[in-house]
Amino acid sequence: MKIYHQPVMLNECIEALEIEETGIYVDVTFGGGGHSLKILEKIKGGRLIAFDQDEDAKQEAEKIKSRSFTFCQANFMYMKKYLKLNGVTEVNGVLADLGISSHQIDSAERGFSTRFDGPLDMRMDKSTALTAADVLNDYSEDQLHKIFGMYGELKNAKTAARLIAQRRVAKTLMRTEDLKSALQPIAPRGKENKYFAQVFQALRIEVNEEMKALEDFLHQCGEVIVKGGRLVVMSYHSLEDRMVKNYINKGKVFGEVEKDFFGNEIKPFNAVNRKPIEASEEEVKNNSRARSAKLRVAEKI
Ligand SMILES: C[S@@+](CC[C@H](N)C(=O)[O-])C[C@H]1O[C@@H](n2cnc3c(N)ncnc32)[C@H](O)[C@@H]1O
Repeated sequence: MKIYHQPVMLNECIEALEIEETGIYVDVTFGGGGHSLKILEKIKGGRLIAFDQDEDAKQEAEKIKSRSFTFCQANFMYMKKYLKLNGVTEVNGVLADLGISSHQIDSAERGFSTRFDGPLDMRMDKSTALTAADVLNDYSEDQLHKIFGMYGELKNAKTAARLIAQRRVAKTLMRTEDLKSALQPIAPRGKENKYFAQVFQALRIEVNEEMKALEDFLHQCGEVIVKGGRLVVMSYHSLEDRMVKNYINKGKVFGEVEKDFFGNEIKPFNAVNRKPIEASEEEVKNNSRARSAKLRVAEKI
């Protein structure tokens, strides 16, 4: 049987949460539930509230019958609101395992994969309006340049945007193969897979407003986690990791830490580790997705 998603750094994440049996925990990226199930094993009398905006993840969550478990099919940018709807205003720990699951990547019809042809969709929440095709066909060349540069970190973002703008005049881009064939002439030889992965990443971030969701979510963690509670975030690309690192160290995702009248820093968390935790060689050997994972842990002040 094909597994939905192989959880990354499972033990490291669970240890980082320092779970108390009667505590309330939140897993904002349920996916196939790998981390959630482990949290549920550790709590007795406590509660786990899980989020995922994807309908497929909801179906996985429905398999869990524990009374300690609540699932919210929602974007984690609304975490605080959904917690309140479930009678929760304070929690002991929050886990986020960012990005998309193997199940999402491997489902050709979702359009996330560079390996199979599929529609240019890339929505994690299929009820939202904007698709990757909309971005590619309707955004201005300047907007595409910005997205490819900022979110995909493409060195030739301007050229890529120009090629897309030229190609779409003759034919609307509808399939992932249309996108790949438009950019094939400028993909670095021998590194095409990495290049397309960056292009797809850029579009996925835009379609799902991933940067805004992460920023809103991080700020809400500062409001709902109790003193001494843990924030545990695993990211898979440098943009996300930089935002998480900044938030933990400076209390905001961009800019410098603010200080009060006496010069004390105003920030909700202290970093538990100065450097992010990475997966062991052994894990990377068994699960290539673990290669780029960076785990940051912080404690509420
Ligand atoms: C890497 S997977 C999590 C895998 C999970 N930890 C496991 O072990 O099975 C990320 C999941 O988070 C969900 N997700 C990503 N961004 C989200 C957001 N802003 N709000 C809600 N869910 C989100 C995706 O739909 C995906 O299912």
